Amino acid sequence: MVKYVFYTEKGKRFYSKDGKDMHTQYGYLTSEDIKKAKFGQTLETNTGKKMSKIKPSFMDVYTRIKRGAQIIPLKDIGVILTETGINNKSKIVDAGAGSGGLACFLANIAKQVTTYDIREDFIKIVEKNKKLLNLKNLRIKKGSVYEKIDEKNIDLITLDLPEPWKAVENASKSLEVGGYIMSYSPCIPQVMDFVEEVNKHNELLFIKTIEIIERKWDINKRKVRPKTQTIGHSGFMTFVRKIKN
Ligand SMILES: C[S@@+](CC[C@H](N)C(=O)[O-])C[C@H]1O[C@@H](n2cnc3c(N)ncnc32)[C@H](O)[C@@H]1O
Repeated sequence: MVKYVFYTEKGKRFYSKDGKDMHTQYGYLTSEDIKKAKFGQTLETNTGKKMSKIKPSFMDVYTRIKRGAQIIPLKDIGVILTETGINNKSKIVDAGAGSGGLACFLANIAKQVTTYDIREDFIKIVEKNKKLLNLKNLRIKKGSVYEKIDEKNIDLITLDLPEPWKAVENASKSLEVGGYIMSYSPCIPQVMDFVEEVNKHNELLFIKTIEIIERKWDINKRKVRPKTQTIGHSGFMTFVRKIKN
C-alpha cells in the first residue's frame, strides 16, 4: 500500500510504504525518517538529494495500476466525465474491463460501477487494481455483455469492446431513460457499425462522435513550443442517449 509520495525538486516521483527504507537512484531515506517527517517537509537522502514528502492522491496511486490490456488515456476519460456529467449518485456499467483503467477512474467518482470481462486473466488484474486503489464500490463480473447485462436503471454504460454494436440491445434495456452509452473504438469501421445499430433503436439518440488530440508543450526559457513527440491517435468516443422507453 502506497503511504507516502516523495518529489525531487526536478519533479521525479518516488513511492514508499510504512516500515521500509526507500531506495532511489539518488540515495535512500530510512523508514524512521520517512515516518517522522510531516507532509510538506523536505528530507535529504544519504547522498544529500532533497525530497519533499506528499500525501498520495488518487492520481498518484492510479499511475501505478497494473496494465494488461491497453487502458483508455486520461485525456479521453476527462471527456467521458464531462459529456455525461456523472457524479456520486451515478450507477455505471463498463465493458470490457481490460486493466480496469476506465472502471477504476469511474468508481472513484460514481456511486456504483460494475465492470464485465470475458477473460479471467484481465479480471485478476482488475481485482489487483481495485485493491491497490481501495475501491469498495467496484464490482467485477465475468461474462459477455453481448449476451446479457444484469444491472437495471443505469446512468452510463461504457463500452470498450471489439464489436460494440453487439452490446447495443442489452445496453439499451439496462439504461435509465436519460442515461448515456459511450462507445470507445480505435477504428472508424467499428464506429460506423455501432452507429448503424444505434439508429435501429427508436429509444436511442446518437449525440456525437469525437476524438481528442492532446498536445504537450516544452516551456524552457525561450524554447517554448509543442513537444516533438506526442501521443497520436488513441480512440473515437461515440455518445448516445436513451430518450424514451
Ligand atoms: C481494450 S480492453 C478494455 C480496456 C479498458 N477500457 C481499460 O481502460 O482498461 C477490451 C476488453 O474487452 C474484453 N471483452 C471482449 N469482448 C467482450 C465481451 N463480449 N464482454 C465483455 N468484455 C469483453 C476483452 O477481454 C478486453 O479485456
